[in-house]
Amino acid sequence: MADMIRPILIHPDPRLKKLCDPVAEITPEIRQLAADMLETMYDAPGIGLAAPQVGVTKRIIVMDCIKDGEPEPMALVNPEVIWASEDLSTYEEGCLSIPDQYADVKRPAEVKVRWLGLDGEVQERQFAGLWATCVQHEIDHLDGKLFIDYLGPLKRQMITRKMEKLKRERARG
Ligand code: NI
Repeated sequence: MADMIRPILIHPDPRLKKLCDPVAEITPEIRQLAADMLETMYDAPGIGLAAPQVGVTKRIIVMDCIKDGEPEPMALVNPEVIWASEDLSTYEEGCLSIPDQYADVKRPAEVKVRWLGLDGEVQERQFAGLWATCVQHEIDHLDGKLFIDYLGPLKRQMITRKMEKLKRERARG
């Protein structure tokens, strides 16, 4: 089956607030979902995407933080942060579910993550820089958390109102 670009949900949406279910087994459907998610992410374009953003509340994320050079598509099933540095770093984050809105978020500068690969093998890797921010942002999605949840209530409300307006405009076509 050809990879398919799936529609990306825009905040606010109840499916973006859900605790996602672990994947019990790597099946052809899971592999197809991961391939579709990568296709959707590159098309957007973005550097990361989590399954709930395409309406599937399962613990799967994809990412590729290479800006210039060979692409490095990654698909992580049931990812968990098993170590985080005390050092923090601040990045201006955005999200494909919150288009055109950006804000500084402070997170651990480095994290070690364990996940299940699409080959069924458990993998571990330490991420730094943009990759570290991205993997934490995407794992947050699996717990129903968005980057705007790190902001103050006023800023968060302002962004949410903008998104509600955007959704109304899109619905009107
Ligand atoms: Ni996001």
